[in-house]
Amino acid sequence: MAILYDEVRRIFHLQTPGTSYVIGLVKDGAAPVHLYWGRKIRPGAEERLLRRGWRHAPAPFPGDNTLSYDWLPLEYPGYGTGDFRHPAYEAQLDDGTTAVELIYDSHRILRGKPPLEGLPAVYVESDDEAETLELVLVNRYSGLKAVLSYTVFARHDAIARSVRFVHEGDRPIRLLRALSASVDLPGSRYDWLHLSGAWLRERMIERRRLTTGTQGIESRRGASSHQHNPFIALLSPDADEDHGDVYAMNLVYSGSFAAQAEVDQYGTTRLSIGLNPFDFGWLLEPGESFRTPEAILVYSAEGLGAMSRTFHRLYRTRLCRGTHRDRIRPILINNWEATYFDFTEEKLLEIARSARGLGIELFVLDDGWFGKRNDDTSSLGDWKANERKLPGGLRRLAERVRDEGLLFGLWIEPEMVSPDSDLYRAHPDWCLHVPGRRRTEMRNQLVLDFSREDVCEAVYRMIADILSSAPIGYVKWDMNRNMTEIGSAALPPERQRETAHRYMLGLYRVLDRLTREFPHVLFEGCASGGGRFDPGMLHYMPQTWTSDNTDAVARLKIQYGTSLVYPAIATGAHVSAVPNHQTGRVTPLDMRAHAAMSANFGYELDATALTEEEKEQLRRHVALYKEIRHLVQFGDLYRLLSPFEGDEAAWMYVSEDRAEAVVFYFRVLAEANGPFRRFRLKGLDPDAAYRLEPLDGREDANGSGSVYGGDQLMWAGLHAETGPGDFRSRLWRLTRV
Ligand code: DGJ
Repeated sequence: MAILYDEVRRIFHLQTPGTSYVIGLVKDGAAPVHLYWGRKIRPGAEERLLRRGWRHAPAPFPGDNTLSYDWLPLEYPGYGTGDFRHPAYEAQLDDGTTAVELIYDSHRILRGKPPLEGLPAVYVESDDEAETLELVLVNRYSGLKAVLSYTVFARHDAIARSVRFVHEGDRPIRLLRALSASVDLPGSRYDWLHLSGAWLRERMIERRRLTTGTQGIESRRGASSHQHNPFIALLSPDADEDHGDVYAMNLVYSGSFAAQAEVDQYGTTRLSIGLNPFDFGWLLEPGESFRTPEAILVYSAEGLGAMSRTFHRLYRTRLCRGTHRDRIRPILINNWEATYFDFTEEKLLEIARSARGLGIELFVLDDGWFGKRNDDTSSLGDWKANERKLPGGLRRLAERVRDEGLLFGLWIEPEMVSPDSDLYRAHPDWCLHVPGRRRTEMRNQLVLDFSREDVCEAVYRMIADILSSAPIGYVKWDMNRNMTEIGSAALPPERQRETAHRYMLGLYRVLDRLTREFPHVLFEGCASGGGRFDPGMLHYMPQTWTSDNTDAVARLKIQYGTSLVYPAIATGAHVSAVPNHQTGRVTPLDMRAHAAMSANFGYELDATALTEEEKEQLRRHVALYKEIRHLVQFGDLYRLLSPFEGDEAAWMYVSEDRAEAVVFYFRVLAEANGPFRRFRLKGLDPDAAYRLEPLDGREDANGSGSVYGGDQLMWAGLHAETGPGDFRSRLWRLTRV
């Protein structure tokens, strides 16, 4: 890793272990231009990558018609001075105009990576892990400065980008757009890939050919959203899991975002990501500053698989933080699908007791334990145990669960308030609202105004009190609606459009404080399932409830899509009862367990209602996961067969030293008189020998205990035999001998 600056050629060459990112300064530094991003190259004649030439275009440099903003690959493009493509920033000056040009002023190169005050970000633990370039750009007329920050890592092929605006002038400025990263790539022959979806159908992979014009995704919901994950990638058309170029961006943010690619008239492509400019504005008074969220850029020359492994390692080790980051995660059981709101203390204890007997380690009490909440129409905000259901309060239940030998976990939804709650009756102005207008409800609830310091403080107090009141070792932090009537009673009219982003800053402050003050608590994020599965949340809470859809077949796609960016240890996956509550489908317990074991494993069912045979199966599954979870949670993922491309799915996890691996194979529907199928493994040492052991008790043509060469497993593969029937799955372990 290095950031090299060539003073004569005015070239910044940023290097990660396997990639280069090159910025040049043209016209005495007037404009920082993007010269290269891709496979690592040696410093040489990078300035030659910039093509000059006359075009019918604005000429911002008097006397030189060979350079125009209309086609220059600008590192941080603006609007109004000759670049007509979508800009990375837009600022309105005190006179109402928006032609604001930011030009190079100075730079510095630092060891390490400064933290992003108030925002989630990847971090380093020592300064030799990274280097950071800060490019300072200024607008001569207004005093607006933008500090573009680029961090490269010694161990990761990733670049972290963000921007800090500083207002050093004397008249107010309004930021209308402040994206985190923009890259102008040569050419336009790319495929566009993103993760789209809906509640119960999160992170479906979509890929299509890029065309002229702008194409993009965004969230205007005040959450990163079920609908579009803040992740985009451009791929060379031939790229697949293991080959081809991938240029990916992921925003470390949990609110509304926008990401787009624009193919311009000259066939070049601008890719960018950041806060959604829609309904956004930020007033900068003299002396004030504004910091954008961080974007993580990953280039892979070896397809999507290598891209994912880069994201996974970086996020596992340097985005997630806290005492649980490097710890094996417990197998949990959650009472939501078992009881919904209808439970008693005794019922919960019975479930916990049965779960303990099966080897489960953590019991989670979900919604319905507080206020008078027997359905979803009341009590959010009244975080006091419902004594009818829990006569001894939370403390007695938590202690009894602990005495049974399980950790106790609790569901909360701190960002919300029910109109039918004591909190709302006492503080009707504490929610997002516009005075005198309807307060639109969703799931019968309103959103607390986290842009307000007093609201954040009150919520922090309530949650801190709960966490101190009982032996709570885990928290599921839920959030079940999107924002409407986004207005804050505490902000003046000229700052109302700051509300949604200020909300996120308030939320991050509260999360930061709580997770630091209760370091023993394992936090799991949730937003009606995976409505906020993003790196912003993972910074504070190292795992996320992936989807409310627990159907094993649906989960193949949901978890496969999620795995493009997010590591398995962060991906909550539970076995639930059949018929499945979301799809009505009946799948075998083995397949449900194998699908869930592919990630952060748990249960979501009534353990007291199982037959003896089912209990025996569960016991085996739980024991099995304990044997393989170090691989799933800390190994490298290799995707083998995509559920988006056929009726099969397969993936494997390989230990860092390639000495051990676990392989999962799934077939959804049976096929009469079908072909003999085989699939190839990946990520092994071709020169090593591995013992193959089926972990599902089924011996087949691959044998049990057979020793294979890593080369044979990877170039010839394994037989994919499942036996007859729909919804089949297989599981094998490989151990180097
Ligand atoms: C939505 C979550 O995703 C579910 O798992 C459950 O916790 C419910 N909320 C409870 O209201």
